[in-house]
Amino acid sequence: MEKKLTTAAGIPYAHHEDSQSVGQRGPLLLQDFILHEKLAHFTRERIPERVVHAKGSGAYGSLTITNDISAYTRAKVFNAIGKTTKLFIRFSLVAGEKGSSETERDPRGFAMKFYTEDGNWDLVGNNTPIFFIKDGKKFPDFIHSEKRDPYTNLKSPTMAWDFFSLNPESLHQVMFLMSDRGTPYGYRHMHGFGSHTFSLINAKNERTWVKFHFKTQQGIKNFTDAEAALEKSVDLDFAQRDLLTAIDRGEFPKWDMKIQVMTEAQAETYAFNPFDLTKTWSHKEFPLIDVGVVELNENPKNYHAAVEQSAFAPAHVVDGIGYSPDRVLQARILSYPDAQRYRLGVNYEDIPVNRCPYMVNNYQRDGLMVTGDNGGSEPNYFPNSFDNIQPDPAYTEPALQLNSNVVDTFDRNAPGENDHYTQPGIFFRETLSDELRLSLVANVVKAMKGIEGPKKMEIINRQLCHFFRADIGLGMQVARGLEVDVSLFTQPH
Ligand code: HEM
Repeated sequence: MEKKLTTAAGIPYAHHEDSQSVGQRGPLLLQDFILHEKLAHFTRERIPERVVHAKGSGAYGSLTITNDISAYTRAKVFNAIGKTTKLFIRFSLVAGEKGSSETERDPRGFAMKFYTEDGNWDLVGNNTPIFFIKDGKKFPDFIHSEKRDPYTNLKSPTMAWDFFSLNPESLHQVMFLMSDRGTPYGYRHMHGFGSHTFSLINAKNERTWVKFHFKTQQGIKNFTDAEAALEKSVDLDFAQRDLLTAIDRGEFPKWDMKIQVMTEAQAETYAFNPFDLTKTWSHKEFPLIDVGVVELNENPKNYHAAVEQSAFAPAHVVDGIGYSPDRVLQARILSYPDAQRYRLGVNYEDIPVNRCPYMVNNYQRDGLMVTGDNGGSEPNYFPNSFDNIQPDPAYTEPALQLNSNVVDTFDRNAPGENDHYTQPGIFFRETLSDELRLSLVANVVKAMKGIEGPKKMEIINRQLCHFFRADIGLGMQVARGLEVDVSLFTQPH
């Protein structure tokens, strides 16, 4: 059926391509409102891109529960085997802008929104179980060092390695990044991680610490550095194309959701700070427990409406799931809604992809771009004598025992805190295959060859020290690759 062309206000009109003019060759008329509406809307099409994770892809799907974890959590999303909850996932790259290549060496974002009966639960993780920093106060500095140099406006290996070498807590994540896991083959062939330690609260109001894992059923597949570079030269949008077309073909990607749990008592005595985001928990001591299966099965009808406007927040946990004292998580709790109020406006939770499909009862009203009924004629203050909306004490979490001293300076010398080397050494020796070890060394050497300027040798030597401390063989191989005199590192000092 033919449809009539209309203005945004629904007014049908006759001429879409010709502007109104004075005669055939004269100037245009101010009254041509449709010309003005078209141009004015066009010039406002861009919204601020995310300050990090600007380039991404998203899809809808579901989580289906396959195992009973009610001993640990009362969260309704997990409360029955076979239960299915709708979700939306946005994958992304971190440092590049919206137009950048999707085969760059970079961690990948793995942000999940579960539309649960108790509100939207956002698990905003990455494809790595760890991160570059263990305190959120370092995040802007870290990201600045990854983005463009303020003078040259170019990406700068000098800035990146300067930051890494001055922040040895980054080493574990740097090793992941420099392995072939830093260039995954799109988004379907990588694992996902909640990364932080969170908490689970059960029906008896008991707390357990937890880490979330998502194991790809498609199998891990990575580009080598050379393959990634080649793909970049032919397709900047490899990962978007791969995800979109797989779902369009009916090949729905799946991940097995699993958890690791640690009791509060175990956390007291664990060798490392269990809330340190630069460390993993031993899988031998804390084995993976099955939870369910995540499947992506529906491409959004419109990219901008759903993917670009999606907003995830580590702050959004639902009853039965809680935070932990992880210093990066704590910083993230504040930062995301703040970013989204700037990027999308104060009513961003009402955008369909972000809207809770179940009840939303509160007294927030008005502001820019109200698109729902704004609470209708219901009271807009609390307490009131009319609506009987009540806070429910059943949602109270158990108290968390804390040392009450306010600490301004984190004790980086506390036991285990400044051991930045044990786990990266294990990762190099035990997790990576011979082939992946070789490519890691080659990738590091190639990346560090980009360091330049008067501080070049200072930065290289400082970073080499970290590699040596993780594994002497690793240090030697990188030093040789960079043609650095290794006697500096092998002499007793
Ligand atoms: C996006 C801040 C650490 C994963 C963002 C955004 C901000 C931000 C402001 C853009 C949000 C938006 O505009 O919607 C921070 C800060 C951090 C931090 C301040 C440290 C204190 C992390 C960590 C992870 C992570 C540790 C993973 C474990 C993500 C992901 C996105 C994102 C996946 C993209 C979400 C999406 O797809 O919309 N971050 N971030 N971030 N961050 Fe972080």
